[in-house]
Amino acid sequence: GGMATEHQLLSTAVHETMPGKYVRPVSQRPRLTEVVSDACIPVVDLASPDRAAVVSAIGDACRTHGFFQVKNHGIDSTLLTAVMAVARDFFRLPAEEKAKLYSDDPARKIRLSTSFNVRKETVHNWRDYLRLHCYPLDQFVPDWPSNPASFKEIMSKYCVEVRELGFRLYAAISESLGLEEGYIKKTMGEQEQHMAVNFYPQCPEPELTYGLPAHTDPNALTILLMDDQVAGLQVLNGGKWIAVNPQPGALVINIGDQLQALSNGKYRSVWHRAVVNSDRERMSVASFLCPCNSVELGPAAKLVTEESPAVYRNYTYDEYYNKFWSRNLDQEHCLELFR
Ligand code: SIN
Ligand code: FE2
Repeated sequence: GGMATEHQLLSTAVHETMPGKYVRPVSQRPRLTEVVSDACIPVVDLASPDRAAVVSAIGDACRTHGFFQVKNHGIDSTLLTAVMAVARDFFRLPAEEKAKLYSDDPARKIRLSTSFNVRKETVHNWRDYLRLHCYPLDQFVPDWPSNPASFKEIMSKYCVEVRELGFRLYAAISESLGLEEGYIKKTMGEQEQHMAVNFYPQCPEPELTYGLPAHTDPNALTILLMDDQVAGLQVLNGGKWIAVNPQPGALVINIGDQLQALSNGKYRSVWHRAVVNSDRERMSVASFLCPCNSVELGPAAKLVTEESPAVYRNYTYDEYYNKFWSRNLDQEHCLELFR
C-alpha cells in the first residue's frame, strides 16, 4: 500500500544509531539487568502416556504462569525448521518487494507492518511483522506472498498442524478446568486463526526500546515458534520478568484473554514482552486461535457458582477485538474493561 514511505520497515535499513522515535522514557525501559533467567516455566511432554499428569501439569501452568512449553507435540521438527527458514528468507527480500505488502491498517487480512500500531503509538517498537489470516486456508492463501516460492506451501502446512495442536490443547485445558473435553472448542465457534511472523533486527541500543512492550494476548490460545538460538520472550511472574529459554523443537503456549475470561479468572493471560539485542536479529512465529466473532464469550456457566461469581460479563469477540486494537498495547489489561 501507499503508506510505505511514511513508516519505513526496520528490516530495510541499517541502524548504527537509535532513531529517537524508538526511545522509551526512562521509566518505561526494559531494565534488562533485572531480568531473571527461566527456572520455572514448565515443559510438558505431550507424548507422555500419563494423560492425567499431562492435564494436571497444564492446569498448574495455566494458573501460575499462563505459559508453558510443549515437546513431543506432534509437529515435525523439520517443518518447524522450514517455517523459520522461509520466514527469514521473506524478511530478506528486497525493500521494493516487501513494500508491496506494507499496510498500517489492522483490519487488513494480510499485511506487512512495523512496530505494533503505528497509527496510534507515540513511541515505536523494534519489530517488523507479517500478519496473515489463516482460516479457512483456501480463502486466504492465494493472497499470501508468492516469494519466497515455498512460502505458501510451508506456511499452510504449518497452519493446519498448529490448529490441530491447538485443539488438542483445548481438550486438555477443558479437562483441567473440570469441563467436558470438547467444551472450549465448541464454545469458541468456527474459529479464526491468525499468524504473526515477527522479525526483530539487531538493535544498536536494546536497553532503550522493545520488540514488543508488555501486553496480554487478546485471543484464546497462542502457539509460539521461537528462534531456537536467540532469546527475547519474557514473562511477568511475581513482579519479575522471566526470560523464557528457547528449547529446540519445543513450542511455547500461552493463555490469551479469552481463556482467562472463560475460566472465570482461574487461568491467567499474563503480561509478556519481547526484547531485542545488539548482536543478533531474532525471529518468532506466533499463531493465534481466536473465537468466532459472533459467539457469546465470558465465564463458563459451570465455573460460575455462589462462591465464585462471574468475574466478567458476556460479550462478543468482535466487541473485544475492536476495543483491543483501539488502545495502546501497554495499557491496562483489556479484560478489566469487561468486568
Ligand atoms: C508475541 O508476544 O506475540 C511475540 C513474542 C516473541 O516474539 O517472542
Ligand atoms: Fe503476545
